[in-house]
Amino acid sequence: MTDLFDYDAELRLHNELFRAAARVGSHDRVLDIGCGTGQSTRQAARAAVTGSVVGVDLSAPMLERARRLTDDQGLANVTYQQADAQVHRFPSPQFDLCISRFGVMFFADPVAAFTNIGRALRPGARLVLLVWQDRDRNEWASAIRQSLTGATDTPGGGPGPFSLADPTIARGILAAAGFTDVSFTDVHEPVYYGPDTATALDSMLRLLKYEDLLADLDTETAERARARLRATLAAHETDSGVYFDSRAWIITARRH
Ligand SMILES: C[S@@+](CC[C@H](N)C(=O)[O-])C[C@H]1O[C@@H](n2cnc3c(N)ncnc32)[C@H](O)[C@@H]1O
Repeated sequence: MTDLFDYDAELRLHNELFRAAARVGSHDRVLDIGCGTGQSTRQAARAAVTGSVVGVDLSAPMLERARRLTDDQGLANVTYQQADAQVHRFPSPQFDLCISRFGVMFFADPVAAFTNIGRALRPGARLVLLVWQDRDRNEWASAIRQSLTGATDTPGGGPGPFSLADPTIARGILAAAGFTDVSFTDVHEPVYYGPDTATALDSMLRLLKYEDLLADLDTETAERARARLRATLAAHETDSGVYFDSRAWIITARRH
């Protein structure tokens, strides 16, 4: 997910459902965790016309792009903060709503992290998260990884894109962190990787994690992996672009 890879385009269908679930009110003070380049932050800001939005992320380059896009769009009720949401000392309870689009699965100690985030929310505040379901329900992850590495096994648990996939685990984490009324809505929409195979391959190889996977291979093995990836992408090319099946949860909860 770099400037060269259009994550917002990839998630267009997910994003519409996430935006609807967030139901940002006109007066809401909103916190966006792991906001990245800030599409969800700006969407919230447009809805919170007399409210405000704070986007938090670890990544300075992402926030730089988020700020640029926010200025370009003339939004004055948004601020961005470079911080680790797990431990950052947010000012005392001030937010009515916390949202995160795929930004909360990377915490080393999720109970501590969500407890910390909860301290920033007023009692009764809403939490609306978009997280991936299991890797084996996410063709973009399983098929692509398999085509690059030949591996059919899936890496174990711990922080990562699939760490909140199991509703029992996610519910337990949120309950232990002081959230109630936890519920899960199945989001079954494809992710989009580009208008055609060549563009999708180019974008994908720029993704750091896939470059990393290839970096350890000798030239011939890396070439074979690239060819397998191209074939996988080609098999998913449709008249309207390259799509992979995916499953996510919209998790909603309330701060106790
Ligand atoms: C998959 S990206 C999603 C970005 C953005 N929400 C979007 O949908 O475009 C995950 C983001 O979470 C951020 N992130 C991960 N751990 C974080 C933490 N502990 N505190 C703040 N941001 C974090 C990463 O820097 C990254 O930008």
